[in-house]
Amino acid sequence: MTSRNPSIETIGIVGTGAMGRGIAQLAALAGLTVRLYDTNPAAIGAARDYLADTFAKLTAKGKLDQARSLAALSSVAGAHTIADLADCDLVVEAIVEKLDVKQALFRELETVVSDRCILASNTSSLSITAIAAACTDPSRVAGYHFFNPVPLMKVVEVIDGLRSAPATGDALMALARRLGHMPVRAKDMPGFIVNHAGRGMNTEGLRVAGEGVASFVDIDRIMREQAGFRLGPFELLDLTALDVSHPVMESIYHQFYEEPRFTPSPITGTRLAGGLIGRKTGEGFYRYEDGKQQVPPEAATPTELPRSVWISKRYPAAHDAVAQLVDNAGVALDEGATPGPHSLIVVTPFGHDATTAAVDEALDATRVVAIDALFPLATAKRRTLMTTPATGRAARESAHALFAADGVPVTVIRDSTGFVAQRVVATIVNIGCDIAQKQIASPEDIDLAVTLGLGYPRGPLALGDTLGSGTILAILRNIFAVLGDPRYRPSPWLLRRAQLGLSLTQSDALDASDADPTSPTHDTSTENQR
Ligand code: NAI
Repeated sequence: MTSRNPSIETIGIVGTGAMGRGIAQLAALAGLTVRLYDTNPAAIGAARDYLADTFAKLTAKGKLDQARSLAALSSVAGAHTIADLADCDLVVEAIVEKLDVKQALFRELETVVSDRCILASNTSSLSITAIAAACTDPSRVAGYHFFNPVPLMKVVEVIDGLRSAPATGDALMALARRLGHMPVRAKDMPGFIVNHAGRGMNTEGLRVAGEGVASFVDIDRIMREQAGFRLGPFELLDLTALDVSHPVMESIYHQFYEEPRFTPSPITGTRLAGGLIGRKTGEGFYRYEDGKQQVPPEAATPTELPRSVWISKRYPAAHDAVAQLVDNAGVALDEGATPGPHSLIVVTPFGHDATTAAVDEALDATRVVAIDALFPLATAKRRTLMTTPATGRAARESAHALFAADGVPVTVIRDSTGFVAQRVVATIVNIGCDIAQKQIASPEDIDLAVTLGLGYPRGPLALGDTLGSGTILAILRNIFAVLGDPRYRPSPWLLRRAQLGLSLTQSDALDASDADPTSPTHDTSTENQR
């Protein structure tokens, strides 16, 4: 392996479209010399114009001083041919997403650049190992996966291919920090970290909608207001657009050999075929008028409260939280061992549907309404209720009135194993755990990549810890028990840590850096070679 230049001062960018120009902007502002190359010469000019315009705007806003703006712009030059990239310490490609084209480019670059030059790919879906396989020296190749828009999305995945030298990734990690970005390190596996972790929200949201549990808009409302995400799955799909996200869903599913956790939904294929692609076409899961999302109004809130309420004691903490809401609304609590003949019956299942909860406790299903108590009910911005197929209108409406009595909006859904929030959140946590289990990235990097790359309020592992890994495990086990669908089988990472009472962010004790130096597994002779 040739030693890599630890200091990267001249960067070549091949492909100066949306991603290439964003990377160029970071590099120029960090004081690097930037060379732009594109097979379409007009794209190079357009990128330079874009940079000039961006730097001028930043200067006008007082975010960049005039001298730095001029220096940054003068550090960017167009390259007429690939040979003009000969003096680069690093070349990052952001060209068309085709393996053979990227391989041909890297082969050609190897004939031009020095032995010390790193070759990096911004691919989001191709294998780094496969791209590197075309090179004479695959140790110099790594993934450098930025997100769109590059200057605003502060995370970059550094991906080690099977033959990448650790020093190659190390140099890219150091450069990312110099560019003002947060690097995370990942193994070469489909979807790397962010696009892998992102399977939970969209595929489970689609699964819930596909089961007829709730409308797209209600699922979004629940995920945003009850579970605290910035966007629900359908708003997110409208933003990324189905012509991008549907093929990604299919590709990651197939790359993991039909892993049930990633099963796509026929809903997106049909909508894509019908042209309901997303925000950019004016219609996706929502309609957009003058770019503004049109949201159907919520159903009116009933006002007639129940006479009395019996609450299941199966989950004592949830029982007490519901009892507090009943008391706040001034409704009588039915404290009998079994429900009185006129009481509304409230159950608080975790992972079970309302039907299973009713049958398990031998309750009158016509009066049963379930409430999702995963997130604190007292401070909720939205509460979710669900009914069994036998629940009557009076029970449903009185429960809706009761749990909305303090002004918190309520969404009533049809029966579902794990309501909406429980099953979507449990799926997100479970997939995050499996990324850790597969050693694709460290627990810290998984959570960092997901918070910065997907904008989630917490990473999947921290989210599991906050809600209780035992609770997440129980939700998944109960869904699995009712449906028998391997999609919901818990990851071994979750299973073991929840049972041992360990944090989901904790690696195996033996993997800790201060592992016992006397341990026979601590072999310093191999360490020195790394
Ligand atoms: P783009 O279509 O905006 O730009 C690609 C540019 O590459 C064009 O200017 C094109 O003329 C040029 N090009 C194509 N083949 C070339 C070749 N053989 N040699 C030199 N130049 C060539 O594409 P975009 O969106 O910037 O994406 C580029 C890469 O970044 C793709 O690999 C994509 O998967 C990846 N990526 C894209 C993201 C996005 O949201 N757009 C996010 C993360 C990664």
